[in-house]
Amino acid sequence: MNLLEVRGLKVAFENEKGEDLVVVDGVDLSLESGQTLGLVGESGCGKSVSALSLLRLLPHPAGKILNGSILWKNVDLLSMSSDQIRSIRGKEIGMIFQEPMNALNPSHTIGRQVDEVFLTHREMKQAEAREHTLKMLQKVGIPEPNVRANDYPHQLSGGMRQRIVIAMALACEPDLIIADEPTTALDVTIQAQVLQLMSELQEQSAASLLLITHDLGVVAQTCDEVAVMYGGRIVERAPVSKLFQSPKHAYTRGLLASIPSLTDPVQAKLPVIQGMVPALADLNTGCRFAPRSTHHHEQEWLEVRPPFVEVEENHWVEACPACAVLNKKDLS
Ligand SMILES: Nc1ncnc2c1ncn2[C@@H]1O[C@H](COP(=O)(O)OP(=O)(O)OP(=O)(O)O)[C@@H](O)[C@H]1O
Ligand SMILES: [Mg+2]
Repeated sequence: MNLLEVRGLKVAFENEKGEDLVVVDGVDLSLESGQTLGLVGESGCGKSVSALSLLRLLPHPAGKILNGSILWKNVDLLSMSSDQIRSIRGKEIGMIFQEPMNALNPSHTIGRQVDEVFLTHREMKQAEAREHTLKMLQKVGIPEPNVRANDYPHQLSGGMRQRIVIAMALACEPDLIIADEPTTALDVTIQAQVLQLMSELQEQSAASLLLITHDLGVVAQTCDEVAVMYGGRIVERAPVSKLFQSPKHAYTRGLLASIPSLTDPVQAKLPVIQGMVPALADLNTGCRFAPRSTHHHEQEWLEVRPPFVEVEENHWVEACPACAVLNKKDLS
């Protein structure tokens, strides 16, 4: 059984004219227990909106889920009451977002904020909660937890603040951690430390991790599988090594080609994927990558959404004949 199974997720935002702009268009995602899935793709492709949808945290009323199901341990999150979903958030699913300051309350000490997680979800008394808080602070590498527990968020560095957010997300030993660009707001030197910490704690607790990032290097280091998103859709999904060795979709190949190579110092200029991510309203109903592709697209594939096919075991790709490297037998 999959821990999380998202099927056909479709999310829209209403524009000023009252029209729905679809930003996530039929996304399927599944995650097994203990698995780490990376979700990558350019800015605006719908990664954060997908993650927020999973937690029913889309901004109201502009954002709405039009279609799909989000099965959490086989129960649809979309049909749960607000109370049910609140008890899952923070307890069964922990969240780590890009900007730690947004996740922390500036007017409460960090000790109190971590206590709160234990008080709310574990029904502990204050003294017991504080004991757990101090242990958790220790675990995420906060020096002198006893002293620092009395600090306010602004008294800590960005890296330390993100460690607090990680402590809060992991306090109740969730089954799933959703981390949306957890390190991009941090200094490069701190990024690696924080990622390492997150991975270690995840491994210790056998939690699953959905890691959203721009950084394919981070994916290579941390993830078992990777899903590549483009224009509100997943265009490829595979175990990390397969994706890096034999990417099938033109967009994935472009992403990989734009990573600097350490072994090839003479490569003066990195290739870039031509063109811009098209405006949402202008997206094709068919292959979304067509406007940026160098290959000719038959009219059919501008209009019809290419099927998502398994080209090798566990390696799936949106099978646009112009964008995907496929064998004929794969399409039959
Ligand atoms: N509150 C909102 N109101 C209207 N449109 C929104 C809102 N939030 C996101 N969008 C739109 O939804 C689309 C997907 O945004 P999303 O934040 O999921 O992208 P992303 O893949 O997370 O990008 P990034 O890598 O920059 O974080 C974008 O076109 C964005 O403009
Ligand atoms: Mg985002």
